[in-house]
Amino acid sequence: MKRAVIELRSGVHWVGVKDWGRRLFDGLIPLPHGTSYNAYLVRGREKTALVDTVNPGFEDELLAKIGEVVDPARLDYVIMNHAEPDHAGAIPVLLDRSPQAHLVLTAKGAEMAVRYYRVPQDRMLVVNEGDTLDLGGKTLRFLDAPFLHWPETMFTYLVEDKVLFPCDFFGAHTAAGVYDDEVADLAVRAQMYFGEIMMPFRKAGERAMRKLVDVPIELIAPSHGPVWRHPERILGLYRKWTAGETLPKVVVAYVSMWGSTERLVRIAAETLLDAGIRVAVHELAHVDVGDLAGDLVDARALVLGAPTVLGALHPAALNAANLVKALRPPLRYAAVLSSYGWGGGALRQAGEILGPTGIEVVGAVEIHGAPDAEAVVQTEGLARELAAKIHSPPSTHLPAEPGT
Ligand code: FEO
Repeated sequence: MKRAVIELRSGVHWVGVKDWGRRLFDGLIPLPHGTSYNAYLVRGREKTALVDTVNPGFEDELLAKIGEVVDPARLDYVIMNHAEPDHAGAIPVLLDRSPQAHLVLTAKGAEMAVRYYRVPQDRMLVVNEGDTLDLGGKTLRFLDAPFLHWPETMFTYLVEDKVLFPCDFFGAHTAAGVYDDEVADLAVRAQMYFGEIMMPFRKAGERAMRKLVDVPIELIAPSHGPVWRHPERILGLYRKWTAGETLPKVVVAYVSMWGSTERLVRIAAETLLDAGIRVAVHELAHVDVGDLAGDLVDARALVLGAPTVLGALHPAALNAANLVKALRPPLRYAAVLSSYGWGGGALRQAGEILGPTGIEVVGAVEIHGAPDAEAVVQTEGLARELAAKIHSPPSTHLPAEPGT
């Protein structure tokens, strides 16, 4: 069967695969539009390199596509920009079918290649910042780009064609399209992806963006989603997102059991809207983690609506609070709205989770039973106070990076 191989530049082919049916990543991230595992073949006059591989299970499709351009047995290099299995999972098959090929990776990547894929030392070629491989009229240069989003990650840059292969960085989870201008909602997809995967590593992302300032780029060929043939589109977005630039926008994340918390949430949302604040509401019992992560990328504040269940946060709100803590969005402010039937606990737990994040908790409203007139006044007051803070001159908030 003829496979779709796409020539991006002379001697540069997309040989990746589309996983249209995948609906979940990491057991956490919804993939409503599937995803792609992009791999690229770069042919010089003398040598050929494969940049990244594909998810396990797609090895035969990858080999068939490579075979349309060159005999897979004649590969000289397999570049491992990232060790995660969706890009490196086919490495054992590739090295088996390409007996002369060396796996090109960072020193940290070499440790992972042994641990994950049992690659022998004599099949690996460790590269450092600025090292190059001459394929014959095609020069690959390697750029250190650690913690995007694992410690071993690097970028590969094709000098003559000004093509950047950044693996996960600049990606988007969608199986649609070949180029960025073919996917109407790609900026939204890219923002969700950034929130899900890169947001906890914004400092590392900023370092990478600074490194790219002096690199002329005509194509960005990531490992997920379309190729950016208008690279300034995604570069401009990543400059803002990695810097933690926020909008006068609030993420309102709530769950309610008998409507009391929801009533407080509605009052707060309407007060914020009246104050000229953008409001993105997520009902947590049915939330799409990707939608929530995407909205957290550029929101300045969070309103968490969370009733007490059995002396603690409602589990859906607990999950959302922990997600905020883990994803490290550039939120500056938070407020908590809560209700309880006969004993509290949600407010205390919300404070315990949000407190260490560096997000300023502006205030809270907690009610016993249904909201009365006083609760309405308190909630409106808290929302107005939050709106005033949001409208004050913004500065970025960048919590410490997570450990390995
Ligand atoms: Fe797409 Fe970090 O793997």
